[in-house]
Amino acid sequence: MTLLTSHTEHYSLENSLETLHQKSREWLEEIAFWQDEIDTFYMIAIKIKMDHITTNIKDEVEKTERNLVRKITGNELYELKKAVTDHEHVLSEIIQKNQSDEQPYRDQHRNIRRRFEQYEKELRTIKQEIIHLLKLTEDHDGLNEVFKTIYNRRAVRKYKNKMVDRKTIEKIIDAGRMAPSAINKQPWKFYILNKAETITLFSKQITKAASKGILKSGLKKIIKTATESFHFSEGLSFLRAEDPIFHGAPVVIFLTSPKENEWAALDIGMCAQNMMLAAKSLGLDSCPVGLAKYVMETEVYTLLNIPESEEVQLAVILGYGDEYPAVPIRNKVNAVYF
Ligand SMILES: Cc1cc2nc3c(=O)[nH]c(=O)nc-3n(C[C@H](O)[C@H](O)[C@H](O)COP(=O)(O)O)c2cc1C
Repeated sequence: MTLLTSHTEHYSLENSLETLHQKSREWLEEIAFWQDEIDTFYMIAIKIKMDHITTNIKDEVEKTERNLVRKITGNELYELKKAVTDHEHVLSEIIQKNQSDEQPYRDQHRNIRRRFEQYEKELRTIKQEIIHLLKLTEDHDGLNEVFKTIYNRRAVRKYKNKMVDRKTIEKIIDAGRMAPSAINKQPWKFYILNKAETITLFSKQITKAASKGILKSGLKKIIKTATESFHFSEGLSFLRAEDPIFHGAPVVIFLTSPKENEWAALDIGMCAQNMMLAAKSLGLDSCPVGLAKYVMETEVYTLLNIPESEEVQLAVILGYGDEYPAVPIRNKVNAVYF
């Protein structure tokens, strides 16, 4: 019989009452330990939440917090403890009264074991969430503010309906001006839109220009890249959105450079990154928008009065973010040491 049963069947069917009793004692210890674990996990979750309240992990940590609160306020552990204690009473009665029918006790044991396994599974999920959160935050702890800002900046594509004041915009542009540039040419110029209707008009025109075939063969590729890499949550339907290019941001800054400057694209990239990090450090969010360069193909381009000698390299959108995008995984196998 032993050979024909699985390990667990063997355990519950064949074990002596003494072994099952030992298991019940272990369960009681386990319950006490789980209670401690849940309390500790809750404290860890609260600490992570307080340390990262303004970051993109806030939503995730709150989800774990809710799961833990359910475990703390639920009666599951109390009921499990009661079930094991009652189970032990049944055993002592069998022994005292010298009963020969052990089956009800064994059935009860099997039933409690199932409940334990279920609880353990749920607790494992919470543990995994906590480990995930700790991993997300481990790089941040002990790092200085510059590093934290670098790690916390995200491409944000949903904004609150809240204006950014002129002084703040100026500060952010000043940070851009502090970027390094080849031969210190400082090739950048900034063209700023901060009126909702104008931004929407430009956004629609850029989309229209694209879909009219101005981008021709490039369009399909751009949309594919957009949906894959820019992680637009609605897929292609973003094109039908009110502001598909600038994502409803209250500020759009076109960055231009002289056409005749072979280093300009690099300089503009550095300038834009300075601006986005400065914005993050001031509590704002941003997104670099490469598609914005197609503004040059639109009817509204002339409204910007950009001289013929310049070209649009990129736009940086700014605002108070209304989403916490997950951190796109960074490839770390691209450093080669010699
Ligand atoms: C040169 C450049 C062009 C980009 N163009 C767009 C764009 O047109 N639209 C958009 O939503 N995001 C755009 N992005 C944002 C990237 O998709 C985003 O930075 C990338 O997915 C990594 O996400 P993260 O910035 O949150 O780390 C662009 C980024 C760069 C650097």
